[in-house]
Amino acid sequence: MLTSPLPLVSCRNTPPIKAYQRLTICSRRWNSVPAPKATSLAHPRVIFSGIQPTGVPHLGNYLGALREWVRLQDTAPKDTRLLFSIVDLHALTVPQEARQLKTWRREGFATLLAVGLDPSRATVFYQSAVPAHTELFWILSTVASMGYLSRMTQWKSKLDLPEDISLEDSAARSKLRLGLFSYPVLQAADILVHRATHVPVGEDQRQHLEFCRYTANSFNHLYGNIFPPPEAIISPAKRVMSLKEPTLKMSKSHTDKRSRILLTDSTEDIHKKVKSALTDSDASVSYDPVHRPGVSNLLEILSHFDGRSCEDLAEEYKSSSLQSLKGHLGSQISLHLEPIRERYLSLIADKTNYLDVVAEEGARTASANADITMRRVRKALGL
Ligand code: AMP
Ligand code: TRP
Repeated sequence: MLTSPLPLVSCRNTPPIKAYQRLTICSRRWNSVPAPKATSLAHPRVIFSGIQPTGVPHLGNYLGALREWVRLQDTAPKDTRLLFSIVDLHALTVPQEARQLKTWRREGFATLLAVGLDPSRATVFYQSAVPAHTELFWILSTVASMGYLSRMTQWKSKLDLPEDISLEDSAARSKLRLGLFSYPVLQAADILVHRATHVPVGEDQRQHLEFCRYTANSFNHLYGNIFPPPEAIISPAKRVMSLKEPTLKMSKSHTDKRSRILLTDSTEDIHKKVKSALTDSDASVSYDPVHRPGVSNLLEILSHFDGRSCEDLAEEYKSSSLQSLKGHLGSQISLHLEPIRERYLSLIADKTNYLDVVAEEGARTASANADITMRRVRKALGL
């Protein structure tokens, strides 16, 4: 039994939703990819998701993914298995500096605990510590469609290539590495090796989830019904936009650091970043994502903390100024992130090897679960 060296703090201010409600609304109120009914009934629920260790997560990661992981953890029925991973092998699909990656992995792991994942309820682990992920990756690559992979957008955007470029193009051929191209196959293996039925992610992962379902079906068709096709649970905060370029999503890679709020930002930093958020020449407040993406993004972020709709918030701020909206938003974000930041800082500074112990135990549990799948897979393949 692991005991945290630190007091558990609650970092949630969202209204609790009863477990049974939560899981039945996943496929209705939440914007999920529909799964065949039989699947949901035939397999016990397993929730899996992952995040790359490429720096301290930002507000988009938090609202689009991490906060939902914690909500699911806190509301799922007892027999639902929960696994969350720092997907460090995925980070290698673009060049990494070893020392930097080592730091980012640890920071990513500490963040998962700081936001409220509880290792006594959820399995938290590093992907590279569970070799079954890469074994299944290879096996799935023997059924994965090259045509499908070549139409996917991530490898193109990571290489700064236009969306309509094909594999025949010489620029694509010279820049593209096999690992980046086959990234979605490893992601499918992450999910399927745990027989996951539900995958909570942000909107940008929808295409990867569709690919995973397609690949699971291709395998099942050839070798028997081994994998439940997983269902995406898309967070209500589908796409949190950049504070500096509100037509682009908030991301770890944008050159301007003020475009994103990090979970470890101080109250002062948060206020500064929100104050400098790009809006338009109109100083009034209205919700119009097409014509006024800047102020609409601020209203959307506020609505994720406040619970009211963007339209209602716009009505409230109609007669006050953009400055007061920014001030209120800065305070709401800081209030919510402060306990996360404090817990994160204590975990990172902790001199006992608490994080390593949690990671080892997570890897053991995840390996045991993955091995069950791999025994079935090997048998189905005649290995
Ligand atoms: P990544 O940082 O790409 O590993 O993403 C981790 C998780 O955060 C995934 O589920 C993404 O869909 C989600 N995510 C990343 N950026 C955003 C964003 N700007 N808005 C909403 N969700 C996001
Ligand atoms: N591709 C995901 C992202 O960039 C990270 C990821 C890897 C993932 N494997 C996964 C997410 C499995 C969900 C399930 O955000």
